[in-house]
Amino acid sequence: MADPDGESTNEWESDKYDEGHSFVFEYGEGVVDLLEPERGERILDLGCGTGHLTARISDSGATAVGLDASDEMISKARDTYPECEFVCADARDFSFDEPFDAVFSNAALHWIPDQDAVLESVADALDPGGRFVAELGGAGNVAAIVDAVRVEAAERGYDVDAPWYFPSIGDYASKLESHGLETRSATLFDRPTELENGTNGLADWLEMFGDSLLAPIPDDEQPSVISGVEDRLREDLFQKGTWTADYRRLRVVAAMYSSR
Ligand code: BEZ
Repeated sequence: MADPDGESTNEWESDKYDEGHSFVFEYGEGVVDLLEPERGERILDLGCGTGHLTARISDSGATAVGLDASDEMISKARDTYPECEFVCADARDFSFDEPFDAVFSNAALHWIPDQDAVLESVADALDPGGRFVAELGGAGNVAAIVDAVRVEAAERGYDVDAPWYFPSIGDYASKLESHGLETRSATLFDRPTELENGTNGLADWLEMFGDSLLAPIPDDEQPSVISGVEDRLREDLFQKGTWTADYRRLRVVAAMYSSR
């Protein structure tokens, strides 16, 4: 998610995202199943990217609205799915005139360390009794990749910090509760994820998602850091010509306390 305040600096290229990283929305189909959208419901897709899952939600007969901070993603979503409404806005600070029956989010919220601001906006957007169904990176997500980058960077005198928010079940449930959202179910699970593009898979992943992680390393030194990262991880994460990222997912279903 592109962030106007620079909390994460990734500039999304919507075509590259769709072509080389389609697993993001393909896995998201399972989160739509968990949402169980129904005809006539009004549902917000928070961090909708290029809108594939917004469209899946609207296939159920619900009115689906997609929201993303990236102009480029929103404009591609509007072109591809003219039947859905898409809004360019910051997930930490949005509001709508009409409330939603559900807020949905797939693989977007871990880009936003200020999760309290997000959940406040989510709570304000929901009807009493409305539900929040989300998947994001959970505690330990991509830890092997981040550690390898950290070590390679440190060897060259640079300090890198992971820019993402990967909460545990306990942390996230407390946060939800403090915003009037009751956790109905939460799961944290490993999802080793095969990356596309063979031997370039890990380098491509870092190019697409790792801007903020690699930011302290000067551009001309990044290729050697990436190659060092590949050497460190090859034995564990590269098999039969394919890189696998050590993803861990947190899935939650929560509901607004109706007394709020
Ligand atoms: C994720 O979906 O888990 C993820 C994507 C990009 C960077 C970090 C994590």
